[in-house]
Amino acid sequence: EKDGYDWFMRKEIHEQPRAVADALLGRHTESGALKLDEVRISDEDLREIDKIIIIACGTSNYAAMVAKYAIEHWTRIACEVELSHEFRYRDPILTRNTLVVAISQSGETADTLMAIRYAREQKSKVLAICNTNGSTIPRESDAVIYTHAGPEIGVASTKGFVTQLIACYLLGLFLAQVRGTRFGDEIRDVVEELAKLPGHLQRQLDESASVLDLAKTLADAKSVLFLGRHAGFPVALEGALKLKELAYIHAEGFAAGELKHGPIALIEQDLPVFCVVPPRGRDQLHDKMVSAIQEIRARGARTIVLAEEGDDDVAPYADVLLPLPVVPTLLQPVVAAIPLQLFACELATLMGHDVDQPRNLAKSVTVE
Ligand code: F6R
Repeated sequence: EKDGYDWFMRKEIHEQPRAVADALLGRHTESGALKLDEVRISDEDLREIDKIIIIACGTSNYAAMVAKYAIEHWTRIACEVELSHEFRYRDPILTRNTLVVAISQSGETADTLMAIRYAREQKSKVLAICNTNGSTIPRESDAVIYTHAGPEIGVASTKGFVTQLIACYLLGLFLAQVRGTRFGDEIRDVVEELAKLPGHLQRQLDESASVLDLAKTLADAKSVLFLGRHAGFPVALEGALKLKELAYIHAEGFAAGELKHGPIALIEQDLPVFCVVPPRGRDQLHDKMVSAIQEIRARGARTIVLAEEGDDDVAPYADVLLPLPVVPTLLQPVVAAIPLQLFACELATLMGHDVDQPRNLAKSVTVE
């Protein structure tokens, strides 16, 4: 039941603080060491892995893209991300030492199922990240990390996505622990940041009224762009996908660094552009994103900026500023997804669309 919400999607958006807490529950010790008992692949085999390929479709593929940044950084294992259907029908290089990670909320996506069957025929190990207990993909995998988000009924994935991110972080940290590529205190620091996420998400949801105002001002947009860099790039793609599937308007996500290689030609007066700004930090990511925002604003775009609270460098270039909690760069996708989910839900509601059952879409895609 919808618990008084107008849509399952809105209910599921609001369940995310609890869903993230459940996804973390029992998976680390007090001292921050990871415990992933359900990964039934021996430590010895985990140390032999020389390549990871993450396969998924749609929103789950964007979780996979975020996972690549985190897993490579923490484990130094080369990690590829591929759409399940593209992976299956080329001739991928798979060995016994390849770990194939399949991400699927439903556990029934035929494209991903066919891909894992193929990977196992090639003797690779398959680990599923899945939300649905006992579904086909985990049953046919060597190991599974369940995301524990609870049933997701709205067709557009929300809590499914953020809990997939959590599972990917846990997997990356677990591999780093087993392989000794990161020290215990480093892992503990990230675990502490993960544990703060439910509180951050709750505060974001409590303070989300401005997203409704924003949706009202954009109800007649014909096209919306989304820009991000690094772990914010998949978030931009996810923001665009949510808008396409729920509001049926043209939306596209780009890596901000790619702008000058083509997409900047699309920028025109009043075009809404969502910009996901990396946290301020040691590297140049943040400043490069701020320059990109200056460029598009100079060409008349309406900039809707998602940036960490207190980011005064970017505020002058934001027509609308959506503040994000302060979190490490690799974890930012969790908090940056929230306003984009809410925005798509609000806009589709204002347009009179069925948010839970968008046209032409099914919750689980059981045919290739
Ligand atoms: C978008 C959405 C879809 C799914 C995709 C994969 O909101 O829900 O793009 O993410 O169909 O589904 P699963 O994760 O069930 O394999």
